[in-house]
Amino acid sequence: MKRKIAIPALIIAIIVIWFVVSPPRFWLNLTKRVEPTAAVGEQLVRKYDCRQCHRIGGEGALKAPDLTGVTLRAGDPALVSLRLWLQNPRAVRSNTAMPNFHLSDTEIDAILLYLTQLDAQSSGG
Ligand code: HEC
Repeated sequence: MKRKIAIPALIIAIIVIWFVVSPPRFWLNLTKRVEPTAAVGEQLVRKYDCRQCHRIGGEGALKAPDLTGVTLRAGDPALVSLRLWLQNPRAVRSNTAMPNFHLSDTEIDAILLYLTQLDAQSSGG
């Protein structure tokens, strides 16, 4: 009798652990949907404390690359590489110190809009 409950319970436990440790993108997009605007991006940068490591808009630590100007980098006008970093830093560099924040696609859009806005301002645009 007990075994009949144990197997479904085990399956559910495995799924829960999977979603907590490595949530699939569709799940992030369902549960962490935000309005993709620069203002929301600014809030997210604060919420995830990106400045604990990065200098962003002239503020923050320099334990990681200063993000000033990253969105203007030649050869990456579509911000493809930045998007990859935010989706899964270890996929870009396996031993990176950059944590995976399990950001949804709209969170990434918002953060990139914020960084783009900062760079447009700092380059006098
Ligand atoms: C614990 C420190 C840490 C935190 C917190 C952190 N990062 Fe990073 N990040 C790094 C490091 C280190 C790198 C450089 C990775 C490497 O070269 O290994 C990096 C790389 C990046 C890059 C790529 C930079 C480039 O020149 O291509 C972007 C974009 C980025 N981080 C954005 C963010 C954002 C946005 C946040 C907040 C959501 C954040 N990071 C939080 C450490 C951090």
